[in-house]
Amino acid sequence: MKIKTDAIILDVDGTLWDSTELVARAWTSTAHDNGFPERIVTADELKEQFGRPMDEIANNIFPGLDENRLDGILKSCVKYENEVLHNDPCDMCFPGVVSTIRSLSKRIPVCIVSNSQSGYIELFMDKTGTTHCITDHICFGDNGLLKHENIALVVKRNGFKNAVYVGDIRPDEEASRKAGVGFIHASYGFGTAESPDASISCFPELEDIIETDFQVQKELSEYSIRFLIKQALAARLNSYSPYSGFRVGAALLSADGRIFTGCNVENASYGATNCAERTAVFKAVSEGERRFCAIAIVGGTDEKMGMADPCGVCRQVLREFSVPEDFTVIVARSVDEYNKYTLAELLPHSFGPDFKDI
Ligand code: THU
Repeated sequence: MKIKTDAIILDVDGTLWDSTELVARAWTSTAHDNGFPERIVTADELKEQFGRPMDEIANNIFPGLDENRLDGILKSCVKYENEVLHNDPCDMCFPGVVSTIRSLSKRIPVCIVSNSQSGYIELFMDKTGTTHCITDHICFGDNGLLKHENIALVVKRNGFKNAVYVGDIRPDEEASRKAGVGFIHASYGFGTAESPDASISCFPELEDIIETDFQVQKELSEYSIRFLIKQALAARLNSYSPYSGFRVGAALLSADGRIFTGCNVENASYGATNCAERTAVFKAVSEGERRFCAIAIVGGTDEKMGMADPCGVCRQVLREFSVPEDFTVIVARSVDEYNKYTLAELLPHSFGPDFKDI
């Protein structure tokens, strides 16, 4: 079973990791501080609660308290949670989560939406070293919105057409339906699902069932642009440029949504140097891809990033595999500072593979 999609949105608890043992310690300390010295909150108890907004969990664990006391409990719990989660070095991730996120993020935008408190998704990304792999994230604690609203928000602001949510419990499935996205059930997590579009019994199975389906968008969304720039910045780190010291990275988006990155590879003969853009194009074509819709380019020395406009040869190579009017060239200094052109603007009246029709 293949799921065609242009973005993966991930839940955290029960899908990426199981933090219930640690979080249970935080809740137990909170209980002791708040007049429940006998209360021991267990991981199993939390598994049934996870996925709900935090205020609801507090209400279920300490029923019948007034708003003020619940508020105090919530604050102290967040403090304890942050302490134990930050300080404990244990690996709470389900098997294969980190490597799979890393490799999926090269094919497709990967986002995170959860019902957690603010800072929890950042904690996951910090602990697992995946910050650069995540295109966008938001949680209940950031803006007070429910899960379906936050899924819809991420879909909208990224311009996704066909996103899929991956979660482990029924409320995740319901939120996905309400937000109008597909649902993949992580059956190894904390709950069940009714009629998911697909099921995975371990996280790395996502790799096999995801089939990227980027619509060729004439207008790239702001978030797609930032995503491409991020990939180019990452590719730049591999630049081999001992002669010029000018490091360039490129990320090329194919018409069916795959991203191919490249860096400049210099040579002692100077003339045998290959630019970052051509590295990306040649990698892609050698893997069977021939239609492209956008490229992001970043370049500069270790001291200073510049606006590395593509050289004439690279423009001509891009021309070979694109429709110049529909092909977007992003030249960036950072994710926030970039110029956007069409290839037709950069290479007007161009000579192309259709010359035989002249
Ligand atoms: N370079 C690129 O990678 N792309 C371009 O479009 C222009 C130049 C590289 C080639 C060389 O390694 C360094 O930048 C300085 O010219």
